[in-house]
Amino acid sequence: AAETVRPRDLVGRHVVVTAGGTREPLDPVRFLGNASSGRQGVAVAEAARDRGASVHLLAAHVEVPLPDGVRTTRVGSAAELHAAVRDAIRDADVLVMAAAVADFRPAEVATDKIKKRGADDVPTLRLVRTVDVLADVSAHRPHPGLVVVGFAAETGDATGDVRHHAEAKLAAKGCDLLVVNDVSGGGVFGRPDNDVVVLAPTTGPGPGARVVASSGPAGKRAVAETVLDATVA
Ligand code: CTP
Ligand code: CA
Repeated sequence: AAETVRPRDLVGRHVVVTAGGTREPLDPVRFLGNASSGRQGVAVAEAARDRGASVHLLAAHVEVPLPDGVRTTRVGSAAELHAAVRDAIRDADVLVMAAAVADFRPAEVATDKIKKRGADDVPTLRLVRTVDVLADVSAHRPHPGLVVVGFAAETGDATGDVRHHAEAKLAAKGCDLLVVNDVSGGGVFGRPDNDVVVLAPTTGPGPGARVVASSGPAGKRAVAETVLDATVA
């Protein structure tokens, strides 16, 4: 496919991107994880770099090659990601939260490897909630100029359609833009393609959102460009 020549419209801007999936330790060798490959976040980091931004990638178990020309910090758990994000955004213009952050973590982390005891022994895992990084940094911004972008993979269900859930999530998170993926027809994890709409809150009273950009079915790099277009618009 022909490459579109993009403007270097992010020169002088600092962009922080989270990518991949966090892992929540259970014992020294085990964790609760998720299937995010990090492809979409890495594509956003590469696109921002190529548009002239200085980029800091916070990589949580990214399964694809890490990009050149991008400062990269590896993180493990949701708590580590939280600390790294708070540190990284102090001088950032844009934060893109593409990482799949665990919602729950084991309440206790065993210091030694968990062993089977009797023939029928099955441990019971008690889980607790992790910090909501996106909601926290949206509510406690280091400076008002920071643009905060969240991602959401949604399916319709008995309580509402994708758009309904996405508008509710945008309001709950308090971010400036929400990149919404309709995953009703099966997962996008690990696949090269994606299809998103970017929502922004409507000004004025009450909930609601407007579509500020949409990619159509496209490769993750093209989706990344759509996301960045929305942040500079
Ligand atoms: N996110 C986060 N911290 C969490 C969970 C999610 O920062 N503990 C961020 C993700 O990086 C993403 C956005 O929030 O940018 C939406 O994630 P999603 O899992 O869709 O939202 P949740 O609020 O966790 O809702 P759900 O119950 O649907 O999983
Ligand atoms: Ca979640």
